[in-house]
Amino acid sequence: AFGPQSMDLRVNGQHHRFALDSRTTLLDALREHVGLTGTKKGCDHGQCGACTVHVGGRRVLSCLTLATMVGDRPVTTIEGLAKGMEGLHPMQQAFIDKDALQCGYYTPGQIMSAVACVHEGHADNPADIREYMSGNLCRCAAYPNIVAAIEQARHAMKGA
Ligand code: FES
Repeated sequence: AFGPQSMDLRVNGQHHRFALDSRTTLLDALREHVGLTGTKKGCDHGQCGACTVHVGGRRVLSCLTLATMVGDRPVTTIEGLAKGMEGLHPMQQAFIDKDALQCGYYTPGQIMSAVACVHEGHADNPADIREYMSGNLCRCAAYPNIVAAIEQARHAMKGA
């Protein structure tokens, strides 16, 4: 059945309840209903990675995920990534240190994907990083700097 449906989302540790059309994507729910616009809408059909967030600790493309499918799994967006840390998350710091962004539009999605890549154990060498980050486009082609940033952050995250 279509039409508004009541649902709960737990985003960055906060509870949200809304009535949303059951076809609403997680991306639109986050941007338009929760008011978190750090998660970007690039292609809106699974091809650019700009909308990457974590659901239950795993990366997902929020444009391809229905908000109703999230259930009680916690959602983390770029705004919540460094929650509980002093200052920036090591991945955010590494993107700055390595100059891994130019226009910045795809950066939140890249950072969310990059953190997941490290947790998945897919960031041990540049070839793996390139492969497992291949779903995240960068129109400015800052790819070498992104790989360097992930390598820096991988060490910092292991040390943490
Ligand atoms: Fe979701 Fe492009 S906006 S992959």
